[in-house]
Amino acid sequence: MSALMQTYARLPVTFSHGEGVYLYDTDGRRYLDAIAGIAVNGLGHAHPAVTAAICAQANKLVHTSNLYRIEAQEQLGETLTRIAGMDNCFFGNSGAEANEAAIKIARLYGHQRKIDKPAIVVLEGAFHGRTLATLSATGNRKIQAGFEPLVTGFIRAPRNDIHALRQIAAHNPGVVAVLVEPIQGESGVHPLTAEYLQAVREICDEHEWLLMLDEVQTGNGRTGSYFAYQGMDLVPDVVTTAKGLGNGLPIGACLARGAAAQVFGGGQHGSTYGGNPLVCATALAVVKTIVEDKLCANATAMGDVIRERLLCDDAVAASIAEIRGRGLMLGIQLKTECADLAQRALEAGLLINVTAGNTVRLLPALIIEQQEAEAIADSLAQLIRETA
Ligand SMILES: Cc1ncc(COP(=O)(O)O)c(C=O)c1O
Repeated sequence: MSALMQTYARLPVTFSHGEGVYLYDTDGRRYLDAIAGIAVNGLGHAHPAVTAAICAQANKLVHTSNLYRIEAQEQLGETLTRIAGMDNCFFGNSGAEANEAAIKIARLYGHQRKIDKPAIVVLEGAFHGRTLATLSATGNRKIQAGFEPLVTGFIRAPRNDIHALRQIAAHNPGVVAVLVEPIQGESGVHPLTAEYLQAVREICDEHEWLLMLDEVQTGNGRTGSYFAYQGMDLVPDVVTTAKGLGNGLPIGACLARGAAAQVFGGGQHGSTYGGNPLVCATALAVVKTIVEDKLCANATAMGDVIRERLLCDDAVAASIAEIRGRGLMLGIQLKTECADLAQRALEAGLLINVTAGNTVRLLPALIIEQQEAEAIADSLAQLIRETA
């Protein structure tokens, strides 16, 4: 019996090492990695800039705690806030923690405005994490079941429905914020439209609510701009991110601007490991590489390569109901259930993920080149033909 709690349904493979967009299992077999640690390894595996940053920092200093100033944390904070157009940020260790910080900011912001029971609007189909507050914000009963009583103070709205949000605004004076993913990842890659998000921004402005974007999965270049909102002509008040920021080292960030940036006071939030020298020095190297190597543009170009190549095969195109997403965050919804496809892809040497029973999710590394993007599409096309 395994000594591990049985919380994951794992595929029967163990990897020993990786290089670029490839992983190698303990028998030496090579796999084309189209999932990149669930949108984490944006720079692929064993990227020299990441390895160099980890080794150099590990040789100097790994951890000091936030009792002291941390140079790499300050530099990373400056870099990220400049890219995001935010004023300041807080570092934790995961996406859920980044969202916890955002939720706490929204509640404090509400209390500072004399709202006793501040509420946050969240969407159907959302995924915000597995801590109690973030699973309560998540719009999936399977993730919540058994953990009641849930954290209160969330109001659920349908996605891309601005009329519903206006109704909520009219009937709920306690609302202080809206928390949404620009593209919902876990529920099957469902984008919010730019028009919807711009209208949400307007409603937030009208009511002095905070617009909080969960860019844990969409951030760090994945959708073709550093953050997804940067392609949408709007600026949120709070942005959270994690995953691709550390390329595998655990880090999460909650960035804020304006009133939201002034909410936390001394002692109101904290994390022992959050933003330690090792993860911040590594994340700095990651962010620098994403920007200098123009990986956002590459994400757009390679995403297009995968889409076009899949759709140019008539038999494959006929099996596809819809391709959703942007850049290298793609959801390919098939017309039939395909829950076993991740296992069959593994056997064929391709790593993918299936969400919502019928949607293949591709999240390959942002460094992917044309030939590798074509290989992902060709391998997936073959599997889809076999499914049909
Ligand atoms: C949009 C979004 N928010 C939050 C999370 C939770 O992040 P973590 O697993 O790092 O806590 C995820 C993870 O998949 C996510 O996709």
